[in-house]
Amino acid sequence: MKVTFPINKISSDQLGRDVYANEYVPRDFFSRQSLKELFEREAPIEIDLGCGDGSFLIQLAEKYPERNFIGVERLLGRVQKVCKKAFRADLTNVKVLRLETLYTLEWLFPKESFSRVHLICPDPWPKEKHHKNRLMQPRFFDAVHELLKPDGEFLFRTDHDEYYDWAKEKMEAYDQFRTVPWTEEDFFYPKSDFQLQWEAEGKRLQNLRCLKV
Ligand SMILES: C[S@@+](CC[C@H](N)C(=O)[O-])C[C@H]1O[C@@H](n2cnc3c(N)ncnc32)[C@H](O)[C@@H]1O
Repeated sequence: MKVTFPINKISSDQLGRDVYANEYVPRDFFSRQSLKELFEREAPIEIDLGCGDGSFLIQLAEKYPERNFIGVERLLGRVQKVCKKAFRADLTNVKVLRLETLYTLEWLFPKESFSRVHLICPDPWPKEKHHKNRLMQPRFFDAVHELLKPDGEFLFRTDHDEYYDWAKEKMEAYDQFRTVPWTEEDFFYPKSDFQLQWEAEGKRLQNLRCLKV
């Protein structure tokens, strides 16, 4: 496993404030974290897997100050961007973790921790020989299912039509989630920069909303 380190850069602004204060670096990568370490107050927690530059995550956190949010992203530069956005928006309800998604889900948090899990435009791994790398399969579903609270939900959005069909089939064969219809009017669901760029090219995104059974 790739070991990650805290952001190694000068991190204070002219007033001495830490612009990377929203990064979460677990004290121990080999035991389940107490969620009290991440957020001072107790509130429903949502997790965004592969959060990229945080354009989706930050909008959600701004819209719902009464909830807590965790972004997971493996690339340092993107984690730094999310931290800076959270700092500029003065958000205390967002943390960003630089780590691999499956490891995070399977090992880092206590079971039944999250109210919602988001997977937005994950890498589609289009070549058939790479399909094994796709997240949307039973091992990932098991991990998401375990981490969700009993009334929790998993939300998936992709720009890749073939991945959508493939993932939908896998999800429908998995009996621990029930897929339900999801329209734009159901609740506020922000568009990431990635999605906006995609739509500007005239392409569509497809969604799955899965309730824990
Ligand atoms: C296509 S981008 C989408 C980013 C964001 N969700 C959005 O919609 O703007 C996929 C992101 O997932 C991250 N990623 C891919 N595989 C990952 C993994 N196994 N663990 C953590 N992050 C991952 C990539 O670094 C990238 O930032």
